[in-house]
Formats: sequence, structure tokens, C-alpha cells
Amino acid sequence: MEHNVRQTKHSTSRRSFLRKGLVVGGAGAIGAGLLANGLPLPAFAEEGRASLTRGDVAILRFLAAAEILESDLWQQYNELGGIQDSEVPGGSGSAAYIKALEVLDEDMPQYIHDNTEDEFSHFTFINAYLVFKGADPVNLDKFRTLPSSKASGAQHIGRLTNLMQLSVDTSYWTKYRSRTQNPDFGDTFPPAIPGLLKGQFPAIPRNDGDLKGFKPGANPTIPKHLQAIANTAGFHFAFIEQGGTSLYPSLAQRVSNPEVLRILLSIGPTETAHFQTWQDKAGNAPALTDPTNGLVFPDLNASGSEDTQTNLIMPEPTIFLSRKFPPVSIIRPTQTEGAAMGAAKALTDDGLFIGQSKEFFAVLQQLAEAADAAHR
Ligand SMILES: [Fe+2]
Ligand SMILES: [Fe+2]
Repeated sequence: MEHNVRQTKHSTSRRSFLRKGLVVGGAGAIGAGLLANGLPLPAFAEEGRASLTRGDVAILRFLAAAEILESDLWQQYNELGGIQDSEVPGGSGSAAYIKALEVLDEDMPQYIHDNTEDEFSHFTFINAYLVFKGADPVNLDKFRTLPSSKASGAQHIGRLTNLMQLSVDTSYWTKYRSRTQNPDFGDTFPPAIPGLLKGQFPAIPRNDGDLKGFKPGANPTIPKHLQAIANTAGFHFAFIEQGGTSLYPSLAQRVSNPEVLRILLSIGPTETAHFQTWQDKAGNAPALTDPTNGLVFPDLNASGSEDTQTNLIMPEPTIFLSRKFPPVSIIRPTQTEGAAMGAAKALTDDGLFIGQSKEFFAVLQQLAEAADAAHR
């Protein structure tokens, strides 16, 4: 703590100097130069020119990377299933995919659009803040190498993430419905849709062949395979956003600077707002079996168990900190130890990065380890 306080005082005077003399092209340009050595942190952070500690910069840089990855996957969903406009440009939509998504909720295209816009704003803000503080922003453009969907409506550009070979972990469903268990106590939870973990499934149409049999109209014909793709997307949306819901409070516990803490405490709950919405919509996914691959979406209300009941979309009270305390409705997990690496692993296990280079995984790991090493 003592060290941080001294560093902050020192940095304030350096910033004043920066404002007087070096503002134009100053901090950002210097930061970029010093980072030519590939270090995840600007060397001058140690000198105190930036008011942020090394740890705070590392946390913000990992979050910027996570938000860039989120933006990339949401962009792909928006091109085919959302609303393409000046706020979220790119793509021209797939009428068949949109109809299948609208079975979950007729407002799905609007929600997909808004979630996409939010993610772009998250990484753009965090990167701008890093630059303002004299730290280096995150840029993953060189890893935009994965193929786009070949379905009509998608842009044909390089991607960071792969939405066509997902293994979606739906244990978040039972995790948030349990009244007696908490992942921070080492508890594990069964997936609501076990089949989604037993293979690799598309969450967007891979090509127009995935839309085969669709007939538009007032009562459109939606083939089971296409509906299974939309169902997969519905459960994947909630998977992604429950991850952000835990990541922000987990990392906030390592932040030193009150303003950085404010950033984490202000962005984090928007991830929760997303999760809440998506969990509600996923509960409307129709029960079916995909005839092309056997993927089963069971009727989650059939058992009568609260562990899968679809309208239990608010976190059930559960154990927290110690079993001696009464159960409380909370975000879970929020354990701070290894939280960034845990998030990176969850996204990797999801299949999002299938096809990415070794260098991509090395950079992601470096960013995550630096964030996890942060401390007050
Ligand atoms: Fe986000
Ligand atoms: Fe998000």
C-alpha cells in the first residue's frame, strides 16, 4: 500500500508536467514506443509517469482484450441475426436465422444489436482510458485470421473468434439456481443442456446449406437443424455474459486506484444486465433434437426441479464466504485468485479460438497472468 501511495503522488506531478508540455501526441506516442519490446506493460509505469499501478494497467489491458474478443463474436452474431445500422454496421442479416432466433423472443435482433454495441463501447473506452493514462492500448488485429460464415448476410473478413465449432457449457444455468452450492466453495454444477458439451456445434449458420428447408411467411417453416443453431446461440449468449458478470467483480478486488475501481464497478453490471436478459430468452428455446447431429435440447421444465426451471432467472440465494452466514443472492463465482486465467480458459474451452495461432494463445495467457498478478 505504502508503495502505491507514493507512486500515485509522484505520478500526479509528472502528469501535470505532461499536461503543460507534452500533451500533443505525448503519452500515447511514448507508450507505443516503449512497448516495442513486447512487454505487456509500459516501462514508464514503473517510473510513475502514469498514475496507475502496474497491476491496474494489467487488469485494464486484460479486460480490453476480453472486450475485443467479445466484440468480435457479437459482431458475427449481429451481421446475421441482429440489426445492421450506423451504430453497428457490417453484414446484411439472414432472414431465416433471424426467424429462428425470434422463436426465443421477437426482440432478439434488437438485443443482439445492443449487446454488440455495448461490447464495442467497452473495449473502446478502456483502450482510450489506457492511452489517456500513458499506458499502451490493446490491439489484437493481427490475430483476425479465422474464417467468416459463408452464409448470405455475413461479411467476408478475418475473425478473432470461431462461432461454428462451439462446446457451450450451460452449467451456469444450475449454478445460479442452486440454493446450497457455490463455485467459490469448489462446487461443480451439471449443464442444463448436456449435449452442447458433447461435440462442436454452430451457433450461426455456417453456409446457406444450414438454412435448408426454411420457408418464409406469416407462419414460417423453421427446420429443426436451423432452430438448433438458434437455440445454441441463445444459450451461448448467456454463457458469454455470465462470464463477464463474474470477471469484473473478481478482478475489481485487485484494483488499487479508485477511478479504475469505478470503471470496473460501472462496466461489470452491464454484463450482468446482458446475462439476465439472455438467460430469460434461452429459457424460451424450444425442446428439439437436431436430426443432422443428434443434439438434444430437453424440456427444462419437465422434471419440475428448480435446478432447471426456466423462469428462475434471478440468482437464487446461496452460500457466500462461509456456511455460517445465511444464504444470500449473489453473483458467483467472485473468487479473485486466478480469475483472468479462469476466464481465458473458459473461452478457450468454449471452442471460440479453434484455429487460432500459438502466438494468440501466448498473448492471451500473458495478459491474463499479468492481470492475476495484480494486487493492492
Ligand atoms: Fe463487455
Ligand atoms: Fe459482455
